[in-house]
Amino acid sequence: MRTPLIAGNWKMNTDTASARLLASTIARRADEAGDSELLVCPSSVYLSLVRDTIGSAAVGLGAQNVYHEANGAFTGEISTAMLCDLGVQYVILGHSERRHILGETDADVNRKTLAALGAGLRPIVCVGELLSEREAGKTAEVIHSQFSGALAGVSAEQIVSTVIAYEPVWAIGTGKVATPEQAEEVHRDLRKLLTECYNAGIADKVRILYGGSVKPDNAKQLMALPNVDGALIGGASLKADDFLAIAAASAAVGQV
Ligand code: PGA
Repeated sequence: MRTPLIAGNWKMNTDTASARLLASTIARRADEAGDSELLVCPSSVYLSLVRDTIGSAAVGLGAQNVYHEANGAFTGEISTAMLCDLGVQYVILGHSERRHILGETDADVNRKTLAALGAGLRPIVCVGELLSEREAGKTAEVIHSQFSGALAGVSAEQIVSTVIAYEPVWAIGTGKVATPEQAEEVHRDLRKLLTECYNAGIADKVRILYGGSVKPDNAKQLMALPNVDGALIGGASLKADDFLAIAAASAAVGQV
């Protein structure tokens, strides 16, 4: 049984006061998530603040990006060691905004994934097709090549602590959510790729999150899908009520 992971990607949002308020509210009400694991991923600027605010509550801390080099003259970048030093456990990699706005390639995502795993961080590796790719019938092809590119060289031991997030680009921040059939089809494909590259036992342990306009009113249906093991949430993760309602919906599904 895979414990659902409910991850909030705060992106370039919040300021000191709102980050503290959001983190403290989620920490105080963390038990509403039942058996789901909660994770918040603030901007790196607020990681320490959020870590201190969370305290000993059952809420994990994640970053939104990392650089692959261990140290050196890389102005503006953040290393895996720095994230570990701050108590960060997870790092989102290859988010579609980094791929499509900031030009990250699968090779970049792969370098970062290997660096994160090497440092003991758990990467959340994002994959997802553009609307034009879906309309051209290329979804499976795109997912396959992002999967093999981003995860090249990841060992069987490492893939178990890696999380994969399927985020159709056309569903991110648009209010257009994938239908349960569309989501499950890609998640099933990803599980098959994991089985082919590793084995069925390992594939069964890897969590595959869905992301893209997840809201309290669609969470239950998505989280109930056999190969959906949690959510990567943008907009709705900025409202503690919504974020916790999604986590509660996911936990409720697990209990059925
Ligand atoms: P959204 O963002 O929930 O606002 O669609 C998801 C994401 O970018 O991870």
